[in-house]
Amino acid sequence: MAEFDFDNSPEAGLKGSLRKDFFWGYATAAPQIEGAWNADGKGPSTWDILAHTPGRVIDASTADDATRSYDFFREDVKLMKSYGVNAYRFSLSWSRIIPLGGKDDPVNEAGIKFYSELIDELLAHDITPFVTLFHWDVPQALEDRYKSMLDAEKYVPDFVRYARVCFETFGGKVKHWITYNEPGVYALAGYAGGAHAPNRSSDREKYSEGDTSTEPWIVGHTQLLSHAQVYRMYKEEFAHTQHGTIGITLSGNWSAPYDATSPADIAAAQRALEFEIAWFADPVHGSGDYPASMRAQLGSRLPTFTDAEKQTVKGSSDFYGMNTYTAFFVRDKVPPGQPIPPEDHKGNLAWSDINSEGVSRGAESDTEWLRTSPWGFAKLLHWVWDRYRVPIYITENGTTAKGEHVPAPPAGDVLNDVHRIEFYRAYVGEVAKAVTEGIDIRSYFGWTLLDNWEWAKGYTDRFGVTWVDFESEEKKRYPKRSAAFNREFFEHLIA
Ligand code: NOJ
Repeated sequence: MAEFDFDNSPEAGLKGSLRKDFFWGYATAAPQIEGAWNADGKGPSTWDILAHTPGRVIDASTADDATRSYDFFREDVKLMKSYGVNAYRFSLSWSRIIPLGGKDDPVNEAGIKFYSELIDELLAHDITPFVTLFHWDVPQALEDRYKSMLDAEKYVPDFVRYARVCFETFGGKVKHWITYNEPGVYALAGYAGGAHAPNRSSDREKYSEGDTSTEPWIVGHTQLLSHAQVYRMYKEEFAHTQHGTIGITLSGNWSAPYDATSPADIAAAQRALEFEIAWFADPVHGSGDYPASMRAQLGSRLPTFTDAEKQTVKGSSDFYGMNTYTAFFVRDKVPPGQPIPPEDHKGNLAWSDINSEGVSRGAESDTEWLRTSPWGFAKLLHWVWDRYRVPIYITENGTTAKGEHVPAPPAGDVLNDVHRIEFYRAYVGEVAKAVTEGIDIRSYFGWTLLDNWEWAKGYTDRFGVTWVDFESEEKKRYPKRSAAFNREFFEHLIA
């Protein structure tokens, strides 16, 4: 029986606005859910090493077990089926498939078997797999050998070979590939802020290695080059028999001027979008090169593409993969005429929670950077569509909600996650509206299926539509009400 009456709701008019072939479901990432971090031949990843280094994860947790989805993947699939999804986005762990990561290193058959079984289980339940090759876990051996992405010449062939193994092994069944997840966050959090693996930063109080002024840009560049090579390889060697699509997923949030009447703030907001999004999207979906605003500020700290590389990178994604969560108000940080410090990796931008008229970004989640801003999401969809004109796959969107840190079994209201329901009502509603306005959006993946290991924040941020009892041996799963909400909302939306 339907719990939510969409026919008598503000969303009534959106009925049937999404096509039958619209993909919807939830997204996850291997390091955040699998556990089994050293089981059956898996090699350590940079995130395993980080998690085992004291002081790196705020609740001192590891992802050794996480939600134990390596053991309970069949249960996860059953759960998803009950949630009504038709697609699932997950990532492969490179070091589970090639424990030492390198192009000449052996493949781990147990890793192949695990992902083959997961893919078969999904297909048996009519759930379409969307597979991410890289969701932040570099094999530690590559970090030890040559500092992984800081050495593109060595790294690119290793990543290309890993991708080749995946296409050869799973490509008969997997038709939707994503090379990289959020290359920008990977570069900045791992090589500027330093809180993420591999913990490099110029902040000498916390980290012993790294140069924030150059490394994030090198790491971004390496991801673009290796992504583009993998894209070309897929098109040339696999697409004609496997008939799949392949692309890259970028993080991006709307940036609005702090003061909408200030030309400096309007320019700053545009620059924020370019530093966050166009950094990758212009090379891949646009001109083939970095935006002029980045070149102007970063100069030679930003690597350059050769003409041949530009041709390889340009157009190297069948779709725009969008991860989005929030919106920002922005303004200039350093006034004109004064020098911008070389360590500035944010494009000389200052962020604010509230604009000059005192308007806040919206209701709060349990996560300091995340405010519900569906209005920003709508603007972002238009900005991306107007600038790049490629089909959009929304590959992640979701929120935490206050009050979910309770002892198990969850009692009372914790499973009635009203804030998350209102978040999805607003954001998914914007997807449907944008589609009726002519934007070509083909998928929506909520982040995330299960409360999981939120990287350096450990288990302190719960993004799931399923509450997980991390204290229990079997990481018991309890559906939150948002799971039922989304099931019924998409039934209403999909014609
Ligand atoms: C984006 C990342 O891809 C995902 O791994 C992370 O958990 C969510 N954002 C929430 O922070």
